[in-house]
Amino acid sequence: MSTATDRPMTNPLRDPRDQRLPRIPGPCALVIFGVTGDLARKKLMPAIYDLANRGLLPPAFALVGFARRDWADQHFSEVVRDAVAEHARTPFRQEVWDRLAEGIRFVHGSFDDDDAYVRLAEKLAELDAERGTGGNHAFYLSIPPAAFPLVCSKLSESGLAATHPDGDGGETWSRVVIEKPFGHDLASGQALNAVVNSVFPESSVFRIDHYLGKETVQNLLALRFANQMFEPIWNANYVDHVQITMAEDIGLGGRAGYYDGIGAARDVIQNHLLQLLALTAMEEPVSFAPRALQAEKIKIFSATSLIEPLSENTARGQYAGGWQGSQQVVGLLDEDGFSPASKTETFAAIALEVNTRRWAGVPFYLRTGKRLGRRVTEIALVFKRAPHGPFDTAMGADIGKNALVIRVQPDEGMTVRFGSKVPGHLMEVRDVNMDFSYGAAFAEESPEAYERLILDVLLGEPSLFPVNEEVEMSWRILDPALDHWARADAGGSGPEPYAPGGWGPESAHQMLRRTGREWRRP
Ligand code: BG6
Repeated sequence: MSTATDRPMTNPLRDPRDQRLPRIPGPCALVIFGVTGDLARKKLMPAIYDLANRGLLPPAFALVGFARRDWADQHFSEVVRDAVAEHARTPFRQEVWDRLAEGIRFVHGSFDDDDAYVRLAEKLAELDAERGTGGNHAFYLSIPPAAFPLVCSKLSESGLAATHPDGDGGETWSRVVIEKPFGHDLASGQALNAVVNSVFPESSVFRIDHYLGKETVQNLLALRFANQMFEPIWNANYVDHVQITMAEDIGLGGRAGYYDGIGAARDVIQNHLLQLLALTAMEEPVSFAPRALQAEKIKIFSATSLIEPLSENTARGQYAGGWQGSQQVVGLLDEDGFSPASKTETFAAIALEVNTRRWAGVPFYLRTGKRLGRRVTEIALVFKRAPHGPFDTAMGADIGKNALVIRVQPDEGMTVRFGSKVPGHLMEVRDVNMDFSYGAAFAEESPEAYERLILDVLLGEPSLFPVNEEVEMSWRILDPALDHWARADAGGSGPEPYAPGGWGPESAHQMLRRTGREWRRP
């Protein structure tokens, strides 16, 4: 099996000219499996159009949809157009669409149908000949993970996973893009990686964690390593604890097929939040070459574990029915498709320790949930109190703990929270905020995460994609919490119900209160 070390060492993060001279991929075709699904319609097809609109796709580009429906190319093209009209970020331009539409094709078939792969290979060969896509193919598996092994082995049997001499002294490429969940625990994650790697070398596997494609997440690296003022206080000498929150106000109506039995910890903590933790906690990489960045993340994962006892340092909940603002909503157990006895958690919180010199003794609290107060993702470094306060004011529990908050979304930016004198005769101190906002500082709108990630797949630029080692280490970190909850379920207890529109179950608040801390109210 090849490793991340085989990957090319070209990384746009490394090259400041990237902003002004964006790289455009060479000729290629992108095949999307599961093209009738939500992700394809809401994110992938619009992102492809947005890339075309920004002039970032090669002239010799083709988009091939693969699904069970018996659609003609023309019908699929209309489906893509509707998705673009509804969800694209950039305005619709007829000439861009016309050029893109020339390369849109559809292949119908089920994942196990050998003939369908023959048809796909023929279609790709036609496109190579007609549009000059050069034999370079990316296969995006926007399908249930249970189907990954089947599709990978069919791609292999039909010869589509193989590379060939490109007639120019080089090789064509064949890449696979997979969406999480990458397994449901360490053992299944390893098994999945083994299957995928038996067909595609690791350097051709692109695992999407769309959080890594977000501008604000990449800015975390700029914030930490392009500045001098933050790094000296970015450690256990100054930081009391770190809170990473990913909250959503939506419920799970319509997502039972994916979510029931998966739950918040597997859906979000294992991937998005642990990646955010790694970027927050890691040392400065020697460069932004993919290998260097991954090496630092892997060091952090290997030093990270859940804080014991798990009964006090984990919490999980399930949203109940009630009022979310002015809207009456049903609880999870009454959502369509969920088993009325479901023990799937819709909220999860864990406490982790990172056993390095920089972070020893600093808990990292991670939480995520559906039907919470509002949609917000943030990373907050909460600092220790000043060692001495020569003020008369009795400071409340929250006052006096400085915080640096990276607002991942929405309202992307950063807040610094610090104490300031209240105007007047008294020396009274109150916490205030100082804000940086992307929207106010830059005229350009940030691209969608999927634009960046699809472009990187076509460029063969791997830095923003977790390698299998990271995925497995993330499961190793999370598995004890999953086992702990499974044991509780077997003993008859389940996730604690919580009211919609709030900030999760009481046990999550207890988890921090026990240590004299509070969750921030984002
Ligand atoms: C996905 C999860 O990875 O991220 C969803 O599967 C979640 O459950 C989504 O809703 C949130 O993404 P974003 O970009 O809106 O924060």
